[in-house]
Amino acid sequence: MRHISESHPKALAETAFLPGPVLLLGAPGVGKGTQAQLLVSKFGIPQISTGDLLRGNIARGTKLGIRAKEIMSAGHLVDDSIVNQMVLHRLQEEDTHRGSILDGYPRTLEQAKFLDQTFSNPIFLPRLPVIAISIVVSYDRLLQRITGRRICPVCKHIYNTYSNPPRVAGVCDLNGSTLAQRTDDTEPIFIERMKTFNEQTAPVVAHYREMGRFEEADGDQSVEAVNGAIMQAIAKLRRVSR
Ligand code: AP5
Repeated sequence: MRHISESHPKALAETAFLPGPVLLLGAPGVGKGTQAQLLVSKFGIPQISTGDLLRGNIARGTKLGIRAKEIMSAGHLVDDSIVNQMVLHRLQEEDTHRGSILDGYPRTLEQAKFLDQTFSNPIFLPRLPVIAISIVVSYDRLLQRITGRRICPVCKHIYNTYSNPPRVAGVCDLNGSTLAQRTDDTEPIFIERMKTFNEQTAPVVAHYREMGRFEEADGDQSVEAVNGAIMQAIAKLRRVSR
């Protein structure tokens, strides 16, 4: 495993600020992944995306991937116990010791309670409470973001054919790879994912709001403006919850 100073030397040199565990919550397509990538380069802490971890299992054809593929292509959630163990395993890696950006997890109240309990164990550094930021975007914009999304299979950079196209259509600006579209990025599956979000993930937002470690960020603005709002929210929440 690479140490963080090797993977993000500039980020480490620029900030002594300890972000701790940061949850990015929000509906499909609000920009969690886009913002997580920016926070990774700013803070030098890893992004933990349960969606990416599951897609990695599908690509490798693992037993978990075979089960997850069917569930994900229906727009439903993978079992809590599977996802919880996957995250627990990842959080034990050394690069999370200054914090991590959890993208798309927790997504059910049971996952949130599992995570709260996990971080109450002092073996998990940096011993800062979880803070949660929910990105909010109107429904109509989300559909365009989902159907227009394209991803580089090599560097994972996220593009959008409407709002953030690559210089050459279908080709990654950074390494020339052919961009891919996720199989669940269709309108019918998006509708199902939104239904799942409203039924199962909305209570997670209420959970962190009640704990007082929660801020909302308006995601209906440019990527840079959303990032500014998230940076402000992180600074504010870290002042009140150490
Ligand atoms: P996951 O991969 O987590 O998908 P999601 O939550 O539906 O979120 P997305 O990845 O679709 O969107 P995003 O918010 O990251 O947006 P992005 O930055 O890419 O999960 C997939 C599936 O895995 C789930 O349905 C479930 O089955 C399973 N799963 C995952 N986690 C699970 C869990 N914890 N428990 C159980 N099951 C789980 O942006 C979207 C587009 O918008 C991009 O094209 C981007 O360029 C563009 N964009 C971003 N920001 C802006 C902006 N400010 N202005 C204009 N365009 C923008």
